[in-house]
Amino acid sequence: MKTIPVPDFDLVVFGATGDLSKRKLIPALYYRMIAGQIPPGSRIIGSSRREMDKNSFRLFAKQALEEFVKPDKLNSKHLQSFLEILDFVRMDASGDVGWKQLAETLEGSRDRVRAFYLSISPGLFGPVLERLVKYGFAIEPTRVVVEKPFGRDFASAQALNRQLSNGFRESQIYRIDHYLGKETVQNLMALRFANSLFEPLWNSRHVDHVQITVAEDIGVEGRGEYYDQSGAMRDMVQNHLMQLLCLTAMEPPNMFEADAVRDEKLKVIKALEPITPEDIAAHTVRGQYRANGEAQSYFDDVGNSDSRTECYLALKAEIANWRWSGTPFYLRTGKRLRSRLTEIVVIFKDTPHSIFGEKGSNLHGNALVMRLQPDEAITLQMNIKDPGPGGMRLREVSLDMSFKDQLNLDGAEMPDAYERLLMDVIRGDQTLFMRGDEVEAAWKWADSILQAWSKSGHPPRQYDAGSSGPEDAMMLIHRDGRRWRDIQL
Ligand code: BG6
Repeated sequence: MKTIPVPDFDLVVFGATGDLSKRKLIPALYYRMIAGQIPPGSRIIGSSRREMDKNSFRLFAKQALEEFVKPDKLNSKHLQSFLEILDFVRMDASGDVGWKQLAETLEGSRDRVRAFYLSISPGLFGPVLERLVKYGFAIEPTRVVVEKPFGRDFASAQALNRQLSNGFRESQIYRIDHYLGKETVQNLMALRFANSLFEPLWNSRHVDHVQITVAEDIGVEGRGEYYDQSGAMRDMVQNHLMQLLCLTAMEPPNMFEADAVRDEKLKVIKALEPITPEDIAAHTVRGQYRANGEAQSYFDDVGNSDSRTECYLALKAEIANWRWSGTPFYLRTGKRLRSRLTEIVVIFKDTPHSIFGEKGSNLHGNALVMRLQPDEAITLQMNIKDPGPGGMRLREVSLDMSFKDQLNLDGAEMPDAYERLLMDVIRGDQTLFMRGDEVEAAWKWADSILQAWSKSGHPPRQYDAGSSGPEDAMMLIHRDGRRWRDIQL
Protein backbone atom coordinates (compact mmCIF):
# COMPACT_ATOMS: atom_id res chain seq x y z
CA MET A 1 0.00 0.00 0.00
CA LYS A 2 1.30 3.43 -0.95
CA THR A 3 2.16 5.95 1.75
CA ILE A 4 2.67 9.66 1.38
CA PRO A 5 5.54 10.90 3.57
CA VAL A 6 4.73 13.45 6.25
CA PRO A 7 7.08 16.16 7.53
CA ASP A 8 9.08 15.85 10.76
CA PHE A 9 6.85 16.32 13.76
CA ASP A 10 6.56 16.45 17.53
CA LEU A 11 3.35 14.87 18.77
CA VAL A 12 2.45 15.41 22.41
CA VAL A 13 -0.18 12.99 23.71
CA PHE A 14 -1.97 14.07 26.88
CA GLY A 15 -3.40 10.96 28.54
CA ALA A 16 -0.67 8.83 26.99
CA THR A 17 -1.03 6.07 29.56
CA GLY A 18 -4.80 5.80 29.10
CA ASP A 19 -6.85 3.18 27.35
CA LEU A 20 -7.20 4.89 23.95
CA SER A 21 -3.50 5.54 23.78
CA LYS A 22 -2.67 1.94 24.65
CA ARG A 23 -5.20 0.31 22.32
CA LYS A 24 -5.23 2.70 19.39
CA LEU A 25 -2.77 5.61 19.31
CA ILE A 26 0.50 3.83 20.13
CA PRO A 27 -0.26 0.86 17.82
CA ALA A 28 -1.40 3.23 15.02
CA LEU A 29 1.83 5.22 15.24
CA TYR A 30 3.86 2.04 15.26
CA TYR A 31 2.09 0.74 12.13
CA ARG A 32 2.76 4.05 10.38
CA MET A 33 6.39 3.79 11.32
CA ILE A 34 6.81 0.33 9.86
CA ALA A 35 5.03 1.59 6.74
CA GLY A 36 7.89 4.09 6.47
CA GLN A 37 5.72 7.14 6.96
CA ILE A 38 7.23 8.58 10.13
CA PRO A 39 10.43 10.54 9.54
CA PRO A 40 13.20 9.33 11.88
CA GLY A 41 13.69 12.74 13.50
CA SER A 42 10.09 12.90 14.75
CA ARG A 43 9.16 12.59 18.40
CA ILE A 44 6.15 11.26 20.26
CA ILE A 45 6.00 12.75 23.72
CA GLY A 46 3.71 11.00 26.14
CA SER A 47 2.35 12.90 29.06
CA SER A 48 0.27 11.91 32.05
CA ARG A 49 0.03 12.34 35.76
CA ARG A 50 1.61 8.95 36.40
CA GLU A 51 5.01 8.67 38.09
CA MET A 52 6.90 7.66 35.00
CA ASP A 53 9.97 8.60 33.08
CA LYS A 54 11.09 8.06 29.50
CA ASN A 55 12.17 4.48 30.16
CA SER A 56 9.07 3.37 31.98
CA PHE A 57 6.91 4.99 29.28
CA ARG A 58 8.84 3.08 26.64
CA LEU A 59 8.20 -0.10 28.59
CA PHE A 60 4.50 0.79 28.77
CA ALA A 61 4.43 1.35 25.00
CA LYS A 62 6.27 -1.91 24.35
CA GLN A 63 3.67 -3.79 26.38
CA ALA A 64 0.87 -2.02 24.53
CA LEU A 65 2.38 -3.03 21.20
CA GLU A 66 2.82 -6.62 22.33
CA GLU A 67 -0.83 -6.71 23.28
CA PHE A 68 -2.43 -4.80 20.40
CA VAL A 69 -0.20 -5.22 17.35
CA LYS A 70 -0.36 -8.36 15.19
CA PRO A 71 2.53 -10.62 16.28
CA ASP A 72 3.86 -10.92 12.72
CA LYS A 73 4.27 -7.13 12.57
CA LEU A 74 6.42 -6.98 15.67
CA ASN A 75 10.13 -7.39 15.27
CA SER A 76 12.93 -6.15 17.45
CA LYS A 77 14.39 -3.79 14.84
CA HIS A 78 11.11 -1.95 14.31
CA LEU A 79 10.30 -2.02 17.97
CA GLN A 80 13.66 -0.53 18.84
CA SER A 81 13.38 2.31 16.34
CA PHE A 82 9.83 3.07 17.46
CA LEU A 83 10.67 3.14 21.16
CA GLU A 84 13.59 5.46 20.45
CA ILE A 85 11.31 8.24 19.26
CA LEU A 86 9.24 8.11 22.46
CA ASP A 87 9.76 10.56 25.27
CA PHE A 88 7.75 11.29 28.40
CA VAL A 89 6.95 14.33 30.52
CA ARG A 90 5.06 13.88 33.78
CA MET A 91 2.45 16.61 33.96
CA ASP A 92 -0.49 17.79 35.93
CA ALA A 93 -3.16 18.79 33.43
CA SER A 94 -4.90 21.11 35.88
CA GLY A 95 -1.84 22.28 37.81
CA ASP A 96 1.57 23.61 36.85
CA VAL A 97 3.70 20.52 37.25
CA GLY A 98 5.60 19.57 34.13
CA TRP A 99 4.61 22.43 31.81
CA LYS A 100 8.00 24.14 31.92
CA GLN A 101 9.68 20.81 31.30
CA LEU A 102 7.45 20.26 28.30
CA ALA A 103 8.48 23.67 26.97
CA GLU A 104 12.14 22.74 27.40
CA THR A 105 11.62 19.38 25.71
CA LEU A 106 10.03 21.08 22.72
CA GLU A 107 12.53 23.95 22.65
CA GLY A 108 14.54 24.07 19.47
CA SER A 109 11.97 22.31 17.29
CA ARG A 110 9.74 25.24 16.39
CA ASP A 111 10.23 24.71 12.69
CA ARG A 112 8.60 21.32 12.65
CA VAL A 113 4.92 20.36 12.87
CA ARG A 114 3.74 20.29 16.45
CA ALA A 115 0.50 18.65 17.55
CA PHE A 116 -1.11 18.27 20.95
CA TYR A 117 -3.48 15.33 21.24
CA LEU A 118 -6.05 15.60 24.04
CA SER A 119 -6.84 12.00 24.90
CA ILE A 120 -8.06 12.94 28.35
CA SER A 121 -11.34 13.14 30.20
CA PRO A 122 -13.50 16.04 28.96
CA GLY A 123 -13.28 17.73 32.37
CA LEU A 124 -9.59 18.32 31.66
CA PHE A 125 -10.00 19.83 28.16
CA GLY A 126 -10.47 23.33 29.60
CA PRO A 127 -7.52 23.28 32.03
CA VAL A 128 -5.17 21.84 29.38
CA LEU A 129 -6.26 24.38 26.76
CA GLU A 130 -5.73 27.22 29.23
CA ARG A 131 -2.22 26.00 29.96
CA LEU A 132 -1.35 25.55 26.31
CA VAL A 133 -2.04 29.25 25.94
CA LYS A 134 -0.41 30.28 29.23
CA TYR A 135 2.84 28.44 28.49
CA GLY A 136 3.07 29.79 24.97
CA PHE A 137 2.26 26.64 23.02
CA ALA A 138 -0.65 28.14 21.12
CA ILE A 139 1.42 29.41 18.25
CA GLU A 140 1.09 28.88 14.52
CA PRO A 141 1.26 26.22 13.12
CA THR A 142 0.56 24.19 16.25
CA ARG A 143 -2.34 21.76 15.93
CA VAL A 144 -4.64 20.57 18.67
CA VAL A 145 -6.53 17.30 18.42
CA VAL A 146 -9.64 16.82 20.54
CA GLU A 147 -11.06 13.38 21.23
CA LYS A 148 -14.71 12.70 21.80
CA PRO A 149 -16.94 13.31 23.67
CA PHE A 150 -17.06 16.82 22.27
CA GLY A 151 -19.53 18.17 24.81
CA ARG A 152 -22.62 16.44 26.09
CA ASP A 153 -25.12 18.91 24.64
CA PHE A 154 -25.24 22.05 22.51
CA ALA A 155 -24.28 24.40 25.34
CA SER A 156 -21.23 22.42 26.48
CA ALA A 157 -20.05 21.90 22.88
CA GLN A 158 -20.38 25.62 22.26
CA ALA A 159 -18.44 26.36 25.45
CA LEU A 160 -15.66 23.98 24.39
CA ASN A 161 -15.52 25.57 20.95
CA ARG A 162 -15.18 28.97 22.60
CA GLN A 163 -12.37 27.70 24.80
CA LEU A 164 -10.56 26.27 21.77
CA SER A 165 -10.93 29.51 19.86
CA ASN A 166 -9.23 31.42 22.70
CA GLY A 167 -5.91 29.94 21.69
CA PHE A 168 -6.35 28.38 18.28
CA ARG A 169 -7.81 29.19 14.91
CA GLU A 170 -10.28 26.76 13.35
CA SER A 171 -7.59 25.64 10.89
CA GLN A 172 -5.51 24.40 13.85
CA ILE A 173 -8.30 22.38 15.51
CA TYR A 174 -8.84 18.69 14.71
CA ARG A 175 -12.03 17.25 16.25
CA ILE A 176 -11.79 13.49 15.98
CA ASP A 177 -14.58 11.19 14.90
CA HIS A 178 -12.78 7.96 14.18
CA TYR A 179 -15.62 6.78 11.90
CA LEU A 180 -14.45 9.30 9.34
CA GLY A 181 -11.11 7.51 9.14
CA LYS A 182 -12.66 4.18 8.19
CA GLU A 183 -11.87 2.90 4.72
CA THR A 184 -15.45 2.35 3.55
CA VAL A 185 -16.48 5.82 4.65
CA GLN A 186 -14.01 7.28 2.23
CA ASN A 187 -15.00 4.78 -0.36
CA LEU A 188 -18.53 6.03 -0.02
CA MET A 189 -17.30 9.41 -1.21
CA ALA A 190 -15.32 7.81 -4.05
CA LEU A 191 -18.33 5.74 -5.05
CA ARG A 192 -20.64 8.73 -5.09
CA PHE A 193 -18.37 11.37 -6.55
CA ALA A 194 -15.96 9.51 -8.81
CA ASN A 195 -18.68 7.59 -10.65
CA SER A 196 -21.56 9.01 -12.62
CA LEU A 197 -23.61 5.84 -12.30
CA PHE A 198 -25.27 6.52 -8.96
CA GLU A 199 -25.80 10.28 -8.93
CA PRO A 200 -28.94 10.33 -11.12
CA LEU A 201 -30.54 7.78 -8.77
CA TRP A 202 -29.32 9.31 -5.51
CA ASN A 203 -32.52 11.11 -4.51
CA SER A 204 -36.04 10.60 -3.24
CA ARG A 205 -37.42 9.85 -6.69
CA HIS A 206 -35.42 6.62 -6.79
CA VAL A 207 -34.36 5.87 -3.23
CA ASP A 208 -37.10 4.40 -1.07
CA HIS A 209 -35.19 4.72 2.19
CA VAL A 210 -31.75 4.45 3.76
CA GLN A 211 -30.76 2.26 6.72
CA ILE A 212 -27.69 3.01 8.78
CA THR A 213 -26.84 0.34 11.32
CA VAL A 214 -24.02 0.21 13.84
CA ALA A 215 -24.67 -2.98 15.78
CA GLU A 216 -22.22 -4.12 18.43
CA ASP A 217 -22.11 -7.49 20.10
CA ILE A 218 -20.08 -6.19 23.02
CA GLY A 219 -21.58 -4.53 26.10
CA VAL A 220 -20.26 -1.49 27.91
CA GLU A 221 -16.93 -3.23 28.61
CA GLY A 222 -15.79 -1.68 31.86
CA ARG A 223 -16.85 1.82 30.76
CA GLY A 224 -20.13 1.59 32.65
CA GLU A 225 -19.73 4.81 34.58
CA TYR A 226 -19.03 6.92 31.49
CA TYR A 227 -21.57 5.10 29.37
CA ASP A 228 -24.45 5.41 31.81
CA GLN A 229 -23.98 9.19 31.78
CA SER A 230 -24.02 9.21 27.99
CA GLY A 231 -26.13 6.56 26.29
CA ALA A 232 -26.35 5.65 22.63
CA MET A 233 -27.49 9.10 21.47
CA ARG A 234 -24.45 10.88 22.88
CA ASP A 235 -21.97 8.04 22.45
CA MET A 236 -22.81 6.98 18.88
CA VAL A 237 -25.65 8.78 17.12
CA GLN A 238 -24.80 12.47 17.53
CA ASN A 239 -21.33 11.78 16.15
CA HIS A 240 -20.64 8.51 14.31
CA LEU A 241 -24.05 7.78 12.80
CA MET A 242 -24.60 11.47 12.07
CA GLN A 243 -21.37 11.55 10.07
CA LEU A 244 -22.40 8.48 8.09
CA LEU A 245 -25.76 10.08 7.39
CA CYS A 246 -24.12 13.31 6.23
CA LEU A 247 -21.75 11.63 3.82
CA THR A 248 -24.59 9.58 2.35
CA ALA A 249 -26.95 12.52 1.99
CA MET A 250 -24.74 15.51 1.20
CA GLU A 251 -24.57 17.33 -2.12
CA PRO A 252 -21.38 16.90 -4.12
CA PRO A 253 -18.81 19.38 -2.79
CA ASN A 254 -17.04 21.31 -5.51
CA MET A 255 -13.69 19.96 -4.30
CA PHE A 256 -12.56 17.14 -2.04
CA GLU A 257 -11.22 19.68 0.35
CA ALA A 258 -11.88 20.22 4.05
CA ASP A 259 -14.19 23.21 4.05
CA ALA A 260 -16.04 22.29 0.89
CA VAL A 261 -16.87 18.84 2.33
CA ARG A 262 -17.74 20.22 5.75
CA ASP A 263 -19.99 22.94 4.29
CA GLU A 264 -22.05 20.26 2.58
CA LYS A 265 -22.25 18.08 5.70
CA LEU A 266 -23.39 21.06 7.73
CA LYS A 267 -26.23 21.75 5.27
CA VAL A 268 -27.50 18.20 5.78
CA ILE A 269 -27.51 18.51 9.56
CA LYS A 270 -29.29 21.83 9.35
CA ALA A 271 -31.91 20.32 7.05
CA LEU A 272 -32.75 17.52 9.50
CA GLU A 273 -36.35 17.78 10.65
CA PRO A 274 -36.38 18.31 14.40
CA ILE A 275 -37.97 15.42 16.27
CA THR A 276 -40.48 17.11 18.57
CA PRO A 277 -42.12 15.84 21.79
CA GLU A 278 -45.24 15.11 19.70
CA ASP A 279 -43.48 12.71 17.36
CA ILE A 280 -40.86 11.30 19.74
CA ALA A 281 -42.79 8.06 20.31
CA ALA A 282 -43.34 7.41 16.61
CA HIS A 283 -39.82 8.39 15.54
CA THR A 284 -37.54 6.93 18.21
CA VAL A 285 -37.20 3.74 20.22
CA ARG A 286 -34.74 3.37 23.07
CA GLY A 287 -33.67 0.08 24.58
CA GLN A 288 -31.65 -1.61 27.30
CA TYR A 289 -30.53 -5.24 27.21
CA ARG A 290 -31.66 -7.66 29.84
CA ALA A 291 -29.73 -10.71 31.03
CA ASN A 292 -29.75 -13.63 28.65
CA GLY A 293 -27.76 -16.83 29.10
CA GLU A 294 -24.22 -15.90 30.10
CA ALA A 295 -24.72 -12.19 29.43
CA GLN A 296 -25.76 -10.02 32.31
CA SER A 297 -28.15 -7.10 32.05
CA TYR A 298 -27.31 -3.50 31.22
CA PHE A 299 -28.28 -2.60 34.80
CA ASP A 300 -25.68 -5.03 36.15
CA ASP A 301 -23.07 -3.94 33.62
CA VAL A 302 -23.31 -0.31 34.67
CA GLY A 303 -24.13 -1.04 38.33
CA ASN A 304 -27.28 1.08 38.31
CA SER A 305 -30.60 -0.72 38.55
CA ASP A 306 -32.54 2.55 38.14
CA SER A 307 -30.77 3.56 34.95
CA ARG A 308 -32.87 5.11 32.21
CA THR A 309 -29.96 5.47 29.83
CA GLU A 310 -30.41 3.87 26.42
CA CYS A 311 -27.81 1.45 25.10
CA TYR A 312 -29.95 0.86 22.01
CA LEU A 313 -31.50 3.51 19.82
CA ALA A 314 -33.49 3.30 16.61
CA LEU A 315 -34.81 6.41 14.97
CA LYS A 316 -36.35 7.74 11.82
CA ALA A 317 -34.66 10.88 10.54
CA GLU A 318 -36.01 13.04 7.76
CA ILE A 319 -34.10 15.54 5.69
CA ALA A 320 -36.10 18.51 4.53
CA ASN A 321 -34.48 19.38 1.21
CA TRP A 322 -35.15 18.85 -2.49
CA ARG A 323 -33.01 15.76 -2.77
CA TRP A 324 -34.35 13.82 0.19
CA SER A 325 -37.81 15.02 1.09
CA GLY A 326 -39.93 11.85 1.33
CA THR A 327 -37.01 9.44 1.81
CA PRO A 328 -36.56 8.49 5.46
CA PHE A 329 -33.18 7.62 6.93
CA TYR A 330 -33.58 4.93 9.59
CA LEU A 331 -30.70 4.81 12.05
CA ARG A 332 -30.08 2.18 14.71
CA THR A 333 -27.27 1.29 17.03
CA GLY A 334 -26.99 -0.81 20.13
CA LYS A 335 -24.81 -2.81 22.46
CA ARG A 336 -25.02 -6.57 23.03
CA LEU A 337 -26.85 -7.26 19.83
CA ARG A 338 -26.84 -10.48 17.83
CA SER A 339 -23.59 -9.65 16.02
CA ARG A 340 -21.20 -6.89 15.06
CA LEU A 341 -22.30 -5.20 11.87
CA THR A 342 -21.91 -1.67 10.57
CA GLU A 343 -23.47 -0.81 7.26
CA ILE A 344 -25.07 1.93 5.24
CA VAL A 345 -27.73 0.59 2.93
CA VAL A 346 -29.45 2.59 0.22
CA ILE A 347 -32.66 0.81 -0.76
CA PHE A 348 -34.02 1.77 -4.15
CA LYS A 349 -37.68 1.85 -5.08
CA ASP A 350 -39.40 -1.14 -6.62
CA THR A 351 -39.84 -1.17 -10.39
CA PRO A 352 -42.96 0.84 -11.29
CA HIS A 353 -44.64 -2.24 -12.72
CA SER A 354 -43.71 -5.91 -12.55
CA ILE A 355 -43.95 -7.65 -15.90
CA PHE A 356 -43.31 -10.98 -14.15
CA GLY A 357 -46.56 -11.05 -12.22
CA GLU A 358 -46.62 -13.61 -9.40
CA LYS A 359 -43.04 -14.73 -10.13
CA GLY A 360 -41.68 -11.39 -9.19
CA SER A 361 -43.92 -10.77 -6.21
CA ASN A 362 -41.38 -11.70 -3.56
CA LEU A 363 -38.63 -9.46 -4.91
CA HIS A 364 -37.36 -6.35 -3.23
CA GLY A 365 -35.96 -3.14 -4.62
CA ASN A 366 -32.23 -3.03 -5.34
CA ALA A 367 -30.06 -2.29 -2.37
CA LEU A 368 -26.60 -0.80 -2.36
CA VAL A 369 -24.81 -2.04 0.76
CA MET A 370 -21.71 -0.32 2.05
CA ARG A 371 -20.37 -2.44 4.86
CA LEU A 372 -17.79 -1.05 7.26
CA GLN A 373 -17.66 -3.91 9.75
CA PRO A 374 -16.89 -6.74 10.40
CA ASP A 375 -15.19 -6.50 7.01
CA GLU A 376 -15.09 -3.84 4.32
CA ALA A 377 -17.34 -4.53 1.37
CA ILE A 378 -19.64 -2.91 -1.12
CA THR A 379 -22.36 -5.01 -2.68
CA LEU A 380 -25.37 -4.38 -4.88
CA GLN A 381 -28.45 -6.56 -4.38
CA MET A 382 -29.88 -7.34 -7.81
CA ASN A 383 -32.81 -9.37 -9.05
CA ILE A 384 -31.85 -11.86 -11.75
CA LYS A 385 -33.28 -14.85 -13.50
CA ASP A 386 -32.71 -18.09 -11.65
CA PRO A 387 -30.32 -19.96 -13.97
CA GLY A 388 -31.52 -22.99 -15.90
CA PRO A 389 -34.46 -24.04 -18.03
CA GLY A 390 -37.99 -24.28 -16.78
CA GLY A 391 -39.45 -20.86 -17.25
CA MET A 392 -38.81 -17.47 -15.79
CA ARG A 393 -38.04 -17.69 -12.10
CA LEU A 394 -36.51 -14.69 -10.40
CA ARG A 395 -34.17 -14.47 -7.44
CA GLU A 396 -32.06 -11.98 -5.57
CA VAL A 397 -28.27 -12.10 -5.80
CA SER A 398 -25.56 -9.96 -4.37
CA LEU A 399 -23.24 -8.39 -6.89
CA ASP A 400 -19.95 -8.22 -5.05
CA MET A 401 -18.18 -4.98 -5.74
CA SER A 402 -15.58 -5.57 -3.11
CA PHE A 403 -12.22 -4.37 -4.36
CA LYS A 404 -10.18 -6.95 -2.47
CA ASP A 405 -9.67 -9.24 -5.43
CA GLN A 406 -9.34 -6.49 -8.01
CA LEU A 407 -6.60 -4.80 -6.05
CA ASN A 408 -4.95 -7.99 -4.81
CA LEU A 409 -5.71 -6.96 -1.29
CA ASP A 410 -6.63 -10.40 -0.06
CA GLY A 411 -4.94 -10.93 3.27
CA ALA A 412 -3.72 -7.32 3.38
CA GLU A 413 -4.71 -5.33 6.45
CA MET A 414 -6.58 -2.09 5.98
CA PRO A 415 -4.99 0.61 8.13
CA ASP A 416 -6.93 1.41 11.27
CA ALA A 417 -8.86 4.69 11.22
CA TYR A 418 -6.45 6.23 13.74
CA GLU A 419 -3.45 5.61 11.47
CA ARG A 420 -5.01 7.68 8.73
CA LEU A 421 -6.32 10.38 11.05
CA LEU A 422 -3.05 10.85 12.93
CA MET A 423 -1.14 11.26 9.69
CA ASP A 424 -3.77 13.70 8.40
CA VAL A 425 -3.18 15.85 11.49
CA ILE A 426 0.53 15.96 10.76
CA ARG A 427 -0.11 16.62 7.09
CA GLY A 428 -2.55 19.39 7.98
CA ASP A 429 -5.55 17.91 6.20
CA GLN A 430 -8.83 18.58 8.04
CA THR A 431 -11.17 16.91 5.56
CA LEU A 432 -11.87 13.96 7.87
CA PHE A 433 -12.32 16.07 11.01
CA MET A 434 -15.42 17.83 12.22
CA ARG A 435 -15.70 21.57 12.15
CA GLY A 436 -17.00 23.48 15.18
CA ASP A 437 -20.28 24.59 13.57
CA GLU A 438 -20.96 21.05 12.39
CA VAL A 439 -20.65 19.60 15.89
CA GLU A 440 -22.85 22.33 17.35
CA ALA A 441 -25.55 21.77 14.74
CA ALA A 442 -25.51 18.03 15.41
CA TRP A 443 -25.93 18.70 19.13
CA LYS A 444 -28.83 21.05 18.52
CA TRP A 445 -30.71 18.28 16.71
CA ALA A 446 -29.77 15.67 19.34
CA ASP A 447 -30.69 17.99 22.22
CA SER A 448 -34.31 18.29 21.14
CA ILE A 449 -34.59 14.49 21.14
CA LEU A 450 -32.88 14.16 24.52
CA GLN A 451 -35.22 16.78 25.95
CA ALA A 452 -38.31 15.12 24.50
CA TRP A 453 -37.29 11.81 26.10
CA SER A 454 -36.82 13.36 29.48
CA LYS A 455 -40.23 15.06 29.19
CA SER A 456 -41.97 11.86 28.11
CA GLY A 457 -40.70 9.99 31.19
CA HIS A 458 -40.93 6.62 29.40
CA PRO A 459 -38.14 4.18 30.31
CA PRO A 460 -36.20 2.42 27.53
CA ARG A 461 -37.67 -0.88 26.26
CA GLN A 462 -35.98 -4.09 27.33
CA TYR A 463 -34.47 -6.52 24.84
CA ASP A 464 -32.63 -9.81 25.28
CA ALA A 465 -28.85 -9.55 25.18
CA GLY A 466 -27.77 -11.20 21.91
CA SER A 467 -31.02 -10.36 20.08
CA SER A 468 -31.75 -7.86 17.29
CA GLY A 469 -33.06 -5.19 19.66
CA PRO A 470 -36.45 -4.29 21.13
CA GLU A 471 -39.68 -5.34 19.47
CA ASP A 472 -40.81 -1.71 19.24
CA ALA A 473 -37.83 -0.91 17.03
CA MET A 474 -39.17 -3.44 14.53
CA MET A 475 -42.53 -1.67 14.71
CA LEU A 476 -40.92 1.72 14.06
CA ILE A 477 -40.05 0.64 10.53
CA HIS A 478 -42.90 -1.88 10.01
CA ARG A 479 -45.41 0.92 10.44
CA ASP A 480 -43.98 2.45 7.26
CA GLY A 481 -44.30 -0.88 5.41
CA ARG A 482 -40.56 -1.55 5.53
CA ARG A 483 -38.29 -3.88 7.45
CA TRP A 484 -34.83 -3.72 8.97
CA ARG A 485 -32.14 -5.71 7.31
CA ASP A 486 -30.84 -8.68 9.23
CA ILE A 487 -28.13 -7.82 11.74
CA GLN A 488 -26.50 -11.18 11.10
CA LEU A 489 -24.48 -11.59 7.91
C1 BG6 B 1 -16.77 4.69 20.37
C2 BG6 B 1 -17.86 4.50 21.40
O1 BG6 B 1 -16.71 6.03 19.94
O2 BG6 B 1 -17.04 3.86 19.26
C3 BG6 B 1 -17.96 3.06 21.83
O3 BG6 B 1 -17.56 5.31 22.53
C4 BG6 B 1 -18.13 2.16 20.62
O4 BG6 B 1 -19.04 2.86 22.74
C5 BG6 B 1 -17.06 2.47 19.56
O5 BG6 B 1 -18.01 0.82 21.06
C6 BG6 B 1 -17.34 1.72 18.28
O6 BG6 B 1 -16.25 1.89 17.40
P1 BG6 B 1 -15.89 0.81 16.31
O7 BG6 B 1 -14.79 1.43 15.53
O8 BG6 B 1 -15.50 -0.43 17.06
O9 BG6 B 1 -17.15 0.59 15.53
